[in-house]
Amino acid sequence: MPSFEKNALNIADLRDLARKRLTRALFDFCDKGSEDQVNMRANRTALDNIKLMPRMLRDVSGRDLSITLFEKEHALPLIIGPTGPAGFVWYRGETELARAAARANIPFTVASTSNTPLEDIYKNGGGTQWYQLYVWQDIDASLVTVNRALDAGYEALVLTVDSPVYNNREIDVRNSLKFPPTIDTRTALDVMLHPRWLFGTLAKYYFAEGQLPAFSNIHIPDEQKAQAKSYESAATAGFLNRNETLNWDFVKRLRDLWPKKLLIKCVLHPEDAAAAAACGVDGVFVSNHAGNVNDSAITAWDALPAISDAVGGKLTLIADTGIRRGSDVLKGLALGADVIAVGRATLYGVAAAGEAGATRALEILEAEIRRTMAVMGLGRISDISRDHIRLPADLPVSGQARL
Ligand SMILES: Cc1cc2nc3c(=O)[nH]c(=O)nc-3n(C[C@H](O)[C@H](O)[C@H](O)COP(=O)(O)O)c2cc1C
Repeated sequence: MPSFEKNALNIADLRDLARKRLTRALFDFCDKGSEDQVNMRANRTALDNIKLMPRMLRDVSGRDLSITLFEKEHALPLIIGPTGPAGFVWYRGETELARAAARANIPFTVASTSNTPLEDIYKNGGGTQWYQLYVWQDIDASLVTVNRALDAGYEALVLTVDSPVYNNREIDVRNSLKFPPTIDTRTALDVMLHPRWLFGTLAKYYFAEGQLPAFSNIHIPDEQKAQAKSYESAATAGFLNRNETLNWDFVKRLRDLWPKKLLIKCVLHPEDAAAAAACGVDGVFVSNHAGNVNDSAITAWDALPAISDAVGGKLTLIADTGIRRGSDVLKGLALGADVIAVGRATLYGVAAAGEAGATRALEILEAEIRRTMAVMGLGRISDISRDHIRLPADLPVSGQARL
């Protein structure tokens, strides 16, 4: 177990610890985006270019970081978003993330492609949990999972809508990445060089369960199970291909089926946010999916103001992608988000040290939010407004320097 006080002062340090423990293929899967990484850079540039406008002499001694989200009080303006490989970076990593979220009193979102059964994560993780849904070619099979999530007790369903086809992640092809991870001539050296992951995660599944788990939350009809030995074979056989036919009628259908909170993830256009509101959806994630899907897409931070103008107050706005500092969280809130989601920050944490690492990521962000609120003259999260930031176009000197 690393000494966090010395080794993980910030999220970048946790990323470094994750990089050392994971195979290169798995780390790159968690860390990199699609194609040329343009979107990855743009997300950070967008956040870095927003400047905070601090106010002075405001008595910030009693700062309160709590928010109310879907009628529940949470300790921080954060949620943990869905990240598929959590169970591959750490043994039963999804449950570790859920526990860290519960400990911090923030919601956790379980990914469709996680490999621990969703019922087990809900029961063993505790706290507020949401379930994220991808819809595969077989819509009825996909809806079996929705019913399982409802029966298990999940409080919200998050439908991810930006990937009707698989993303173009060339880095994973070059790294010969497979799910579940396999040891063959192309991957053996990478695996052998990372014994802490080999013995702490991969071997642990084999010793505890005799196999690497996969697909436990994707309903595959019995007659097709024999073909589904790996992610690749399942995808080749067709039932793990995403559904290209989805449209807003499907959202209405889901609205009728799912009685609790319904969210749409990865919306970037204000008219799509308005369409979600018209379907009776409760909230949207303004997100470009970690830069994992459309390398040329607008960033969430550039998209957020127009979406907030269009549907702010009608929908709960969650924004994500690129959050590495507490100041980033305040910037997103000032742009109009009600709450901010993190993906990699806690994924690096869980990859480095399980629940303790994810908890460390949340502690770092909490301390940074608290400190930044003090130097901004902010007492409560609800005090943050558009007046607390300046965009490049607002700034005479750096704005001109850009031209
Ligand atoms: C490795 C990885 C796997 C992800 N898996 C999913 C997923 O299965 N479903 C989904 O909706 N979003 C997924 N996301 C996107 C996250 O939910 C979130 O939008 C994104 O990570 C936020 O950006 P950040 O990682 O820079 O914080 C994934 C992100 C990463 C990095």
